[in-house]
Amino acid sequence: MNTTTAERLDLIQIREDFPILKREIAPGIPLVYLDSTATSQKPLAVIRAMNDYYERSNANIHRGVHTLAEEATAQYEAAREKIARFIGARKSCEVVFVRNTTEAINLVAFSWGRKFLQRGDRVLLTEMEHHSNLVPWQILAQEKGLELDFIPVTENGLLDLDEFQRLLGQKPKIVAVTQMSNVLGTINPVKQIAQLAHQAGAVVLVDGAQSVPHLPVNVEDLEADFLAFSAHKMLGPTGIGALFGKEELLEAMPPFLGGGDMIKKVHLRSFSANELPHKFEAGTPAIAEAIGFGAAIDYLSRIGMERVAAHEREIIHYALEALSEIDGLTVFGPPADQKGAVASFTMRGVHPHDVSQILDSQGIAVRAGHHCAMPLHEKFGLPATTRASFYLYNTHQEVDQLVRGLAKVKKIFG
Ligand code: ALA
Repeated sequence: MNTTTAERLDLIQIREDFPILKREIAPGIPLVYLDSTATSQKPLAVIRAMNDYYERSNANIHRGVHTLAEEATAQYEAAREKIARFIGARKSCEVVFVRNTTEAINLVAFSWGRKFLQRGDRVLLTEMEHHSNLVPWQILAQEKGLELDFIPVTENGLLDLDEFQRLLGQKPKIVAVTQMSNVLGTINPVKQIAQLAHQAGAVVLVDGAQSVPHLPVNVEDLEADFLAFSAHKMLGPTGIGALFGKEELLEAMPPFLGGGDMIKKVHLRSFSANELPHKFEAGTPAIAEAIGFGAAIDYLSRIGMERVAAHEREIIHYALEALSEIDGLTVFGPPADQKGAVASFTMRGVHPHDVSQILDSQGIAVRAGHHCAMPLHEKFGLPATTRASFYLYNTHQEVDQLVRGLAKVKKIFG
């Protein structure tokens, strides 16, 4: 979609909503926050929703009959409903609150995987996965004797779909794939992948940690069986995320963690599990955080995910163009029209941590390292990259500041 002026985001107003964006890193050096792929900043609406809960309604949920407990429960469950609507789930019981994307994927591996995978079964992943969609499967593979296969990443940062088709011929039981790479920014054709995987009889898990915050995502349209994502990358608080699972799959899965709230009845030697989604929510959950998550969804919904995505497309086109003019700088991943607003790069002769430190001295926050995707960096023969990532509050001027900052890096390192 092309943005028209009328559809453009009101960046002045949006930036007003995020108190931290007024911060100076040192006197006269304003913050330029280009690390939203690690975690996004939070608008006042989210901060206030959490404060209001603590100031007015704080109580435990699903347990009391007093007014505060009822208010807290209603707000917590309202957040679940907002999330379900936001991703197009048919029922709110298909949304399970978890701590983050990592926990969501662990839940699938250790509940669905332990029950349904047997020795010799294959799990199909990709070479561009975050550690959170690698390590749980590695642990399970060791435990159960599973085989792990990987869809290769091409030189230009795309999934090799011919090789995917060939690997499907080996009949994997599950295909678990990121919708957007946190390093390359690549937006993978997850719908096509899911359709082919389903034809081959596999279940499909989509890691939506980077896609749900930045693109319109609809689980019905994608044909995802599971979708994992975190609130903190989409304007919400840390400590809360969601796992979407198709009702029939979640119903068939055993509990992941045992304890309070996930049971119907407990005897000394046995228990019966609660209904969905509570079966998977043992113990007191992150109540204020769930409410904050709901407020983040409200904020993004008011703006509209199409407009968020269109703004980011414009920013990444502009940024890649500007970065391509810097001699000695290499950006990894596909061209701007195949990726989200993430630019991971190296600068000839300068360590990524030095790049990041010199940018920080100019107020510019970027991330340097392997970005929890060591195998992908290994594939490209790199120990680390510097990553600038953008969100709905970033401006073209901030891209210009990054470019000026990199010029300074070059000057310092000759
Ligand atoms: N997964 C987050 C990142 O890519 C932490 O930075």
